[in-house]
Amino acid sequence: MSEYSDIHQRSIENPSEFWAEAAEHLVWERRWDRVLDDSNAPIYRWFTGGRLNTCYNAVDRHVANGRGEQAAIIYDSPITGTGRQITYRELQDQVALFAGALAGNGVGRGDRVILYMPMIPEAIVAVLACARIGAVHSVVFGGFAPNELATRIDDAKPKAIVSASCGIEPSRVIAYKPLLDNARNLSKHKPDCCIVFQRPQLQADLNEPGDLDWHDAMANAVPHDCVAVEATDPLYLLYTSGTTGQPKGIVRDNGGHAVALHWTMKNIYNVEPGEVYWAASDIGWVVGHSYIIYGPLLSGNTTVLYEGKPVGTPDAGAFWRVISEHKVTTMFTAPTAFRAIRQQDPEGDYIKKYDLSSMRALFLAGERCDPDTLHWAEEKLGVPVIDHWWQTETGWSIAANCLGIELAPVKAGSVGRAAPGWEVQALDDAGNDVAAGGIGAIACKLPLPPGTLPGLWNAEDRFRSSYLETFPGYYETGDAGYIDEDGYIFVMSRTDDVINVAGHRLSTGAIEEVLAAHDDVAECAVIGVADELKGQLPVGFLVLKAGVEHDEADIVADVVRMVRERVGPVAVFKKAVVVTCLPKTRSGKILRSTMRKIADGEPYTVPATIEDTGVLDNIEVALQSVGYAPCAT
Ligand code: COA
Ligand code: AMP
Repeated sequence: MSEYSDIHQRSIENPSEFWAEAAEHLVWERRWDRVLDDSNAPIYRWFTGGRLNTCYNAVDRHVANGRGEQAAIIYDSPITGTGRQITYRELQDQVALFAGALAGNGVGRGDRVILYMPMIPEAIVAVLACARIGAVHSVVFGGFAPNELATRIDDAKPKAIVSASCGIEPSRVIAYKPLLDNARNLSKHKPDCCIVFQRPQLQADLNEPGDLDWHDAMANAVPHDCVAVEATDPLYLLYTSGTTGQPKGIVRDNGGHAVALHWTMKNIYNVEPGEVYWAASDIGWVVGHSYIIYGPLLSGNTTVLYEGKPVGTPDAGAFWRVISEHKVTTMFTAPTAFRAIRQQDPEGDYIKKYDLSSMRALFLAGERCDPDTLHWAEEKLGVPVIDHWWQTETGWSIAANCLGIELAPVKAGSVGRAAPGWEVQALDDAGNDVAAGGIGAIACKLPLPPGTLPGLWNAEDRFRSSYLETFPGYYETGDAGYIDEDGYIFVMSRTDDVINVAGHRLSTGAIEEVLAAHDDVAECAVIGVADELKGQLPVGFLVLKAGVEHDEADIVADVVRMVRERVGPVAVFKKAVVVTCLPKTRSGKILRSTMRKIADGEPYTVPATIEDTGVLDNIEVALQSVGYAPCAT
């Protein structure tokens, strides 16, 4: 038996023993009573009765153990032309002070704090300060519009918001304060205060009630010590797209999360304390939470906080500069970033200009990695390129090639085998395991390992119906694919209306809600069509109300603008077409997956339940008018 198989088997046969061993590496204020608490199955909890502080384990513990002078964060910002290093000791001081500032403004254990921050060190300081006092942070990605921010404010009901004066994109400086004010006007819940970090690129007007300058808040603060919380207390909420416009508030606990993430750093990523780890993502996404902030810091690594893009800041060599300058051992990003680099530098000429000898592995996740991109990265970098699969819900990877255990053969197109702690199966509609190689809904046997979601914020019914009811005894991932005879998992598509644009998970339902709000639109549908660079792009179909006389092009321009304003630029919603009607089943269900196949030029069968087959021809013509449906059958 291979080392991986042995460890995987042990984790499944005796999860309590397996994860208790992993938990010994952390500092607990009180040991747990039970490792795996199944008293409320199918909702499981980990390390009940245990008490700890995640910030202590991620920061203070390392200072106490002699890592005070090691860089905790390397901030590298080609977009502003600046950068700096922050040691663990400096991080501890800043976090303690900002924790005091939050406490001084009435934020206490269990209170929520929304962070709307760009990729600057203060974002990590704010996250850890919340963890330090037991407050629950909820980071909202800067590319989301005020409307999305307002929805999250109303759901999380934060006591405070922490933000910055601006975000910086290559093409523009984005003033955050007007977006924040707009969101606070739209939301029913009104946070007590809003602490804003002023960046040199733009000064925000702090003239709304409760507005506070970060520096003033820090100047008046008294450093705050770590507050021990229950292992099962929430550490953070992170909203992600579901099938409706209402995002799901994924809850992450303290104990299971710290144990699992700490374990992954050695066992999956194969990094040792003190080494430099870089996840080129954004702190607004789960990858940023787990592998820019918590994972590397829990294990005593130096984490790189990169405020830039893979290309254009200034060129397609940006990643290689960072790796060589900071001696990065392990890098993690989304395949779309590599597609962008490859498009501009197909021969990898920039790679040759840098010394990448520190690099041992590249990890990819966030969307399906096409074999071409994987092979290109392998060939040009000469290190193992590991595609691994996970979700906001799971917090760490369900499947991977666990480098710290052993490097198994890489199969292009596969996300590797189930990680320890995970039992993964492809199921048919009736919930039966399909034979090796057969496509099915990918589901994970309960209980899930520590670090995964114990629930949705204030929405237990939705948690059960979204994830636990379709296949009793399993967690439904929402992904479809197959598992081969060697146990390698191939994730092929979603089973729901979630799409993936440049590694960003988006709900077509949320975009449809915006289109439907246009006065001239009677009905609409949004699908994700294949895109060479971004994986998928959303395309809208509009059926207009009878008697509408406005120009169709104007209506399309309106809805494109509305989606940018209400969902955000990150949706990359640029194309919509007017059609006379949408293809539907007799029961009224819109045939989105057939439409997607037409758009992508994939063969499709006309569903037996379709109301009027001629409608599909109209869809094909409409798609061709916007550059899709190359050779539909
Ligand atoms: N704040 C405000 N706007 C943002 C933003 C942010 N944090 N992030 C992106 N946007 C904007 C962009 O400026 C762009 O606006 P535009 O329409 O005015 O050009 C729009 O949202 C779309 O952004 P994106 O899809 O990121 O396109 P891009 O052309 O700027 O960059 C890539 C393309 C491939 C380089 C980029 O998507 C990328 O690096 N992706 C990796 C994704 C990732 O890390 N995912 C996390 C999982 S690991
Ligand atoms: P998010 O919650 O934003 O991380 O998105 C999770 C979804 O992204 C998954 O459910 C998959 O659909 C997709 N995804 C993430 N990683 C991979 C991967 N390595 N291969 C294929 N799809 C992936």
